Amino acid sequence: MAGQRVVVTGAGHGIGRALATRMAAEGCRVLVNDLDTAAAEQVAGEIGAEVLGGDAASEEGVGKLVHAARELWGGVDVWFANAGIERGRGLAASEDDWAASFEVNTLAHVRAARLLVPEWLERASGRFVVTASAAGLLTMLGSPAYSASKHAAVAFAEWLSATYRHRGVVVQAICPQGVETRMVAESGPLREVLAHDGIVSPEHVADVVWEAMQDDRFLILPHPQVAKYYAARASDTDRWLSGMNKVQQGVEAHDERN
Ligand SMILES: NC(=O)c1ccc[n+]([C@@H]2O[C@H](COP(=O)([O-])OP(=O)(O)OC[C@H]3O[C@@H](n4cnc5c(N)ncnc54)[C@H](O)[C@@H]3O)[C@@H](O)[C@H]2O)c1
Repeated sequence: MAGQRVVVTGAGHGIGRALATRMAAEGCRVLVNDLDTAAAEQVAGEIGAEVLGGDAASEEGVGKLVHAARELWGGVDVWFANAGIERGRGLAASEDDWAASFEVNTLAHVRAARLLVPEWLERASGRFVVTASAAGLLTMLGSPAYSASKHAAVAFAEWLSATYRHRGVVVQAICPQGVETRMVAESGPLREVLAHDGIVSPEHVADVVWEAMQDDRFLILPHPQVAKYYAARASDTDRWLSGMNKVQQGVEAHDERN
């Protein structure tokens, strides 16, 4: 990986920051992006990376980021589509919440792939790593826009992998449960759901991702229990849904007590 040209979106905080830090420590050339420009600049300064603050979801924002990487290095080897948002509660989630969730959690990936894959097919080499979520394989109680947009992110990543893996394009999807970041800190009553199998550190996620980059496996599961839930969902969906509904009832009972 030494010398690889790596872009990480949403790297001013949390998981993105840990991924950027790890890639730099492994000798990669890293371009740090975040909507929070000051945070992106701070991370880039700390790890000796390049920086481009701003949106990494819109067509224009993604275009600027790809252009910046090409200006710097002549191309991109690894793209971490990591920026993500969690918005809206239950059916009260607004039109804006739904649109923003799909914009950042799904369409950003489509826009990046559209620009990057032709370059990778020419070289027969490239890696696209999506930070999806266990919510993209299972569900996230309380958060339908997040669940649906993360499922769409996994579906798009699967499509990319199925279409291009014989032509040198590696696609991977990181699907954690709770990770100790601002997203979890701001999750309010959902924290309990996220913490079901323990909350891991962003650095742990980066370690698991690094390991998975050595064997190119598609699903990256920082919480290994997710594999079991995913299989249970597929093999007996109604039983799995009843189990999730029991968790929901537990959350409601907890809310009533507090
Ligand atoms: N924390 C968890 O428990 C958890 C679990 C599963 C998946 N994830 C996913 O991990 C990814 C990283 O989240 P995190 O937990 O580190 O949260 P975080 O809030 O600490 O970091 C997300 C970063 O993305 C940035 N961002 C948001 N929209 C952006 C945009 N349009 N352009 C550029 N940057 C943007 C934010 O400014 C922030 O710095 C997200 O995709 C999230 O859905 C998180």
